[in-house]
Amino acid sequence: MKAAVIHQPGGPENFTIEERPVPEPQNGWVLIKVKAFGLNRAELMTRKGYSPNVKFPRILGIECVGEVQDDPSGQFLTGQKVAACMGEMGRQFDGSYAEYTLLPKSLLYPFESKLPWEQLGAIPEMFQTVYGSLHLALKIKQGETLFIRGGTSSIGLLAGQLAKHSGLNVTATTRNPEKTELLLKNGADHAIIDDCDLSDKVRAIHPNGVNKVLELIGTLTLGDSLKCAAPGGIVCMTGMLSEQWSFTDFAPMDYIPATVGLTVYDSGQFRVDLPGFQQFLKDVEAGIIKLPIGRTFKLHEITVAHQLMDSNSAGGKIVILT
Ligand SMILES: NC(=O)c1ccc[n+]([C@@H]2O[C@H](COP(=O)([O-])OP(=O)(O)OC[C@H]3O[C@@H](n4cnc5c(N)ncnc54)[C@H](OP(=O)(O)O)[C@@H]3O)[C@@H](O)[C@H]2O)c1
Repeated sequence: MKAAVIHQPGGPENFTIEERPVPEPQNGWVLIKVKAFGLNRAELMTRKGYSPNVKFPRILGIECVGEVQDDPSGQFLTGQKVAACMGEMGRQFDGSYAEYTLLPKSLLYPFESKLPWEQLGAIPEMFQTVYGSLHLALKIKQGETLFIRGGTSSIGLLAGQLAKHSGLNVTATTRNPEKTELLLKNGADHAIIDDCDLSDKVRAIHPNGVNKVLELIGTLTLGDSLKCAAPGGIVCMTGMLSEQWSFTDFAPMDYIPATVGLTVYDSGQFRVDLPGFQQFLKDVEAGIIKLPIGRTFKLHEITVAHQLMDSNSAGGKIVILT
C-alpha cells in the first residue's frame, strides 16, 4: 500500500510517500480500506514534534472514512462503510494517511450514506467536535446568543451553521477583514475582527454579554472570551489555534467572572453516539447542512495540503482522497 510517512518532525516537506506492506488484523482490530480523510491541526502539531508521546517514523492521521477490508471477528462484513476518529490513531499507532489502516473495533462508526467520499472524508472529527461542543458542553438552546472565536476555521464554520440551524444568534471572528464575507455567507449575524480584546465590541452588540462562547483560539484569548459572557453564560474551550493551551498564572477568582461557567470539549474523551452521526449525514444529504470544505487533494499531494493548512487560507476542511 502507499502511505505518507513522517520520519522526523518538521515542515510539510518531511512527508514521504512510501510502499508499505498492508497490515494484518489481530483480534479486536479491523483492516480498513481508507477512502478519504480530513486534515487536522492535531496532525500539524504532531508533524511539528509537539506531541511528546508520538514516536517516529509514524503514519499520521487521526480520522478517516472507508470500507471494512478484513474483520477477523466477522462482526463487520467486507465493504461496510465506516468512519473513525481519535483513540490514539496516528499517534500511538499508525493512522489514516495511507491506503489501508488497522484500527481497534471500538473506534469504528458503521454508517450508510450516498454522499461522495470527498464529503464523507470531511465529517467524522469535524462533526464530533462541533456537535459535542455545542450540544454536550455548551448545551445550546434556541434563542440564545453564541460567540465563536476562530469562526473561519472548519470547526468554527460548521459550528456557525449548526447553531443557526438550532435558532441561535451567532457572532463570529476572524483576524482577516477579507474573511468577514465568508462568515456572513456561512450564516453569522455579526462578523468581527479579532484583535484579542473584544469584550467591548461584543457588548456593543449584546450589552449584557453572550449566553455561550465557543473558544477555538486557546488561552491567548480565553480570558477576553470569559469577559464576553453574560452572567450564567458558558465558555467552552475546544481549540487552541494560537498554539497556546496553558496559563503561566491561573487565579480562578480573578480570571472567571462570577457565575460564568468554563468547560472544554475533547472528542478523545467524549464521543457522540452513532444515531447522532447518522442523522447528521442525512442532514448533509438533504442539503440542510453545507459542509465547509476548503480543498480536496490526493494522498501524494500531502505536502501541499499541509502547506495549505499551515497558511490558514483553506477556508474550510482540507480533505485527502486516497
Ligand atoms: N477539542 C477537540 O476535540 C478538537 C477536535 C478537532 C479540532 N480541535 C481544534 O479546533 C481548532 C480548529 O480546528 P480546524 O481544523 O477547524 O482549524 P482550521 O480550519 O485549520 O483553522 C484555520 C483558521 O484558524 C485561524 N487561525 C490560525 N492561527 C490562528 C491564530 N494564531 N490565532 C487566531 N486564529 C488563528 C485562521 O483564521 P483567520 O485567519 O480567519 O483569523 C484560519 O482561518 C484547532 O485548534 C483544533 O486543534 C479540537
